[in-house]
Amino acid sequence: MTLWHGRFGDGPAAELLAYTVSLPFDRRLAGDDIDGSRAHVRGLARVGLLTAEEAAAVLDALDRTAAELTDGTFELAEGDEDIHTAIERRVTELAGDAGAKLHTGRSRNDQVATALRLYCKRELGRVAERVLDLQAVLVDRAVEAGDAYLPGYTHLQRAQPVLVAHHLLAHAWTLARDVDRLLATRTRLDVSPLGAGALAGSSLPLDPDGVAADLGFAARFENSLDAVSDRDFVAEVLFNLALLAVHLSRVGEELVLWSSDEFGFVRLDDAYATGSSMLPQKKNPDIAELARAKAGRLIGQLTGLLATLKGLPLAYNRDLQEDKEPLFDALDQTVLGLGALTGMVATLRLDTARMAAAADSPYAAAVDLAEFLVVAGVPFRRAHAVVGELVRRALDGEAAFADLVRAHPDLGAEAAALLEPGVAVRRRTTPGGAGPAPVAAQLDRMRTRLAQDRARVAGDG
Ligand code: ARG
Repeated sequence: MTLWHGRFGDGPAAELLAYTVSLPFDRRLAGDDIDGSRAHVRGLARVGLLTAEEAAAVLDALDRTAAELTDGTFELAEGDEDIHTAIERRVTELAGDAGAKLHTGRSRNDQVATALRLYCKRELGRVAERVLDLQAVLVDRAVEAGDAYLPGYTHLQRAQPVLVAHHLLAHAWTLARDVDRLLATRTRLDVSPLGAGALAGSSLPLDPDGVAADLGFAARFENSLDAVSDRDFVAEVLFNLALLAVHLSRVGEELVLWSSDEFGFVRLDDAYATGSSMLPQKKNPDIAELARAKAGRLIGQLTGLLATLKGLPLAYNRDLQEDKEPLFDALDQTVLGLGALTGMVATLRLDTARMAAAADSPYAAAVDLAEFLVVAGVPFRRAHAVVGELVRRALDGEAAFADLVRAHPDLGAEAAALLEPGVAVRRRTTPGGAGPAPVAAQLDRMRTRLAQDRARVAGDG
């Protein structure tokens, strides 16, 4: 039986049900739907629309339904088009007439929006926690890397040496902004839509403020039309996850490069790499590659939802049911990806000798020579040209770069010493820079930030 059987002569066509049911995917809202119903029932009791006995009976039926859903004994019936319908049907079976009062003053429109917001609130915290876990691993690896350095790149050309720790922490700071966005979205979506009804509120003396407080929402909706049709929060979650996926994709791309024989900067742990079915010598960075690829999938989910929302007239439209699959899939992929990538980063071996060898080209310290001249009073643009000319002459085969530097009247032995391995990176001393002194300070700040963000995720920051 449908929820609307009174108005309809015939039952629904099989094709309609096959096309419109959302039960296979919205089952995961079961717990949140039940929480929403509990608060709704308590609200109805507070305003006298349910007696204390009726409320107790419905709450008891909700508890039993929740237990059946958890232990797998919940039985679906024909006409259960979504989890919300199924739960209400079961509660009515269990609690009789009192159960039939559950939907008083409520529509699936405000009911679904409520469950989905409760779900997102919790899931955003869960994702943020896992991002923090990856950041913590990056910090551990940064500490372990000590004063090891590698080439910093621009245009994927070697540019200047940077501490390995600095490079790893760059990703940790990027992820800190992801955590920030996840938590900001969690705050913004912390609004209860329950009491908006189908679209216009109710003639019954409902108590949306009390229900919002009961559910732990920070506020209730201001406008019933907006409350049932707003899916900004889903779009925001998808954006946050898509951008996070883009960031994980960049980490993945670096790990693909770094684990290649050409770079040889890292060796992957066996447990976090794959082999080849044909080539016995191969060890492949599949996690990193999938981290790269999944970004495409998540970007698609975001753009898909935006296209779904675009042009929808107020208020609820069935189109909105299409918000769930991309949301659930994006969350699943994010959680799986973070787990895999975190393990991969935690277990890989850094080949700091290879990294240093790649960074130790004397040309990597060319700007240090220009700055040596700057300290002596030479305008930077002229200093740049002087050093650039020496680089060109060395590359043309006239002499080794260091010899040309030593022989130059304005440079000499003191300047040539700047080209020695490991010197340039130690000279990066400015705040936020790539040398040991600022990186030590940066590590402290990242540790503080992680502790603050852990507290914020837990809700006390
Ligand atoms: N499963 C639907 C959804 O997620 C439930 C809402 C259907 N509401 C309606 N008025 N037809 O949007």
